Amino acid sequence: MNFKDKDIISIKDFSKQEINGIISYAKKMVPYAKGEKKTELLKGKVMSSLFFEPSTRTRLSFESAMNRLRGRVIGFSDPGGTSQKKGESLADTIRMADSYSDVIVIRHPQEGAARLAAEFADAPVINAGDGAGHHPTQCLLDLFTIHTEKKNIEKTKIVLLGDLKYGRTVHSLAYALSLYGAEITFVSPPSLKMPKEVIAECQEMGVEPTQTSQLEKAIKDADVLYATRIQRERFPDAEEYNRVVGSYIITNELLEQAPNELIVMHPLPRITEIDPEVDTTPHARYFTQAFNGVPIRMALLSLILGERL
Ligand code: NCD
Repeated sequence: MNFKDKDIISIKDFSKQEINGIISYAKKMVPYAKGEKKTELLKGKVMSSLFFEPSTRTRLSFESAMNRLRGRVIGFSDPGGTSQKKGESLADTIRMADSYSDVIVIRHPQEGAARLAAEFADAPVINAGDGAGHHPTQCLLDLFTIHTEKKNIEKTKIVLLGDLKYGRTVHSLAYALSLYGAEITFVSPPSLKMPKEVIAECQEMGVEPTQTSQLEKAIKDADVLYATRIQRERFPDAEEYNRVVGSYIITNELLEQAPNELIVMHPLPRITEIDPEVDTTPHARYFTQAFNGVPIRMALLSLILGERL
């Protein structure tokens, strides 16, 4: 497993063996991610954190990961405070980050922005979400969570729910789950179905996802219910958003239809998709999932910067 200086743009950049390797390495990082053990693995290294779109978990867990490994972080969480405001191009902003740091983490509203950034930077670039495109590090932490909670990704029966059209996390996850041959069901409002290209990729890997709008039926024998937010900022039309928001709400009553062992995941932020009453039930895993972003990103940063624990 050699990822030194590798750009991480899409989950498709990884084989199943490589993903398994990252997951087991990330498990070693857990006590360091919790602060129970200390290391100076990335001392002297600098990470640029360039967030052109809002973020809580992705940015903070990348920054926490770098700090836990004793690296340092520079960057911004709002491009309004940078020369982008003066009209500077993305390419020039990237060139600067490249000369100031050893690794660049970028989130951008435009699909393809991370790949473009990688063309202008010698330092490795990590895509922290590009529009409705991909979110490879979220995907790795989602797989890490399923692996930890269910011991096995191959035989998992998983329901992907919500905004399957614009949600980048589910685009990455549907592909990755197909690599493992998982059993996938897509549940969404009719206007927010999984894009045909993503379904075709699943099929190429021998997986035939089921599509339905009936959530109750879909969760009856599922292992994982992965909910997503309706991606308001990607809707061309506010009225269309208002029509679909609140289409599916996960409540304790709904979960009575599901097996006791079913876990509920969500990349967060949740808006109305999960009633807070679910938080204290044994089904809820979304906060653990969010924590898992730290060990996964520690593992990735360590591998990309060529310093193994
Ligand atoms: C997701 C994202 O930004 O794509 N959040 C995250 O990274 N944890 C999901 C979302 O914004 O709905």
